[in-house]
Amino acid sequence: MMQNGQPWLDTTGQPIHAHGGCILKYQDWYYWYGEDRRANYYVSCYRSQDLMHWEFRNHILTTTSPFQAQRFKAEGGLVNADGTKVNIERPKVVYNPKTQQFVLWAHYENGQDYTAAAAIVASATTPDGDFTEHGHFRPFGFMSRDCTVFVDAEQAYFISAARDNADIHIYQLSGDYLNVTRLVNRLWSNEFREAPALFKHKGLYYMLTSGTSGWRPNQGKYAVASAIEGNWSDLQDFGDATTFASQPAFVLKNGNQVIYVGDRWGSAEHYQDSSYVFLPLEITSQRALLKNKARWFMAKQQFVFKD
Ligand code: DGJ
Repeated sequence: MMQNGQPWLDTTGQPIHAHGGCILKYQDWYYWYGEDRRANYYVSCYRSQDLMHWEFRNHILTTTSPFQAQRFKAEGGLVNADGTKVNIERPKVVYNPKTQQFVLWAHYENGQDYTAAAAIVASATTPDGDFTEHGHFRPFGFMSRDCTVFVDAEQAYFISAARDNADIHIYQLSGDYLNVTRLVNRLWSNEFREAPALFKHKGLYYMLTSGTSGWRPNQGKYAVASAIEGNWSDLQDFGDATTFASQPAFVLKNGNQVIYVGDRWGSAEHYQDSSYVFLPLEITSQRALLKNKARWFMAKQQFVFKD
């Protein structure tokens, strides 16, 4: 039984290392990807059929992942010149049915500070194979920190915090999902949002974000839009003042269920103590949401997985 905020073990009894990540449903499996900062790892992958029992599959991105240049010019390499590790945060993996590739986007930093503010791209031909890195760059030159990827009817978007976190940018991705093609939205200027997580529910788009307070949790906020490239509502609170002691990682849609998944971070020194929080979301009145009158419910009790 998984409990929010407690170590969650894989099928061999080892703690799951998949922080700031995402879950991708592909064929009969859920694949859970996330940050793994141990040893020479960056991103690890687990899989499950019931969302409860997770089998470790692979360290899909490590210091020794191969580099292959794409048509765009980007700096490659997953170690610094002095051999130290870089930092890969908030990895998101999506499947592109046209190219039959699994494409990963994440936040890249040099491992010392947050001055690189870049996006990194990698890809693989199987969901849990060794990913090939394609380098890191700033989309159209914009700083890019906390990020997510959202696919809407095969059109993919990369969403990230720009301008020292002051703004959230939404970029349309190319057909192969490997590059940005257009900056389609700049949101909530100077409101300093992090940890974006998008989902679609009953024809509307929702974006969750956190404020910026390092590893400490803060009040989560959501916004709603009828089109990703259109107008988004103002930000409204959800959860409590600490988002039930978590920061958004992603939202999982599972049939009719909408499941919020957040990270309960350890501090920088105690990063390995970070755990996960799964909470049910109930969206009761979309019309009210559009008018910024929130009818949004995030239950404090944890999401219960069926055994
Ligand atoms: C908050 C971000 O959401 C995390 O991904 C991480 O970058 C921490 N800040 C670092 O302080």
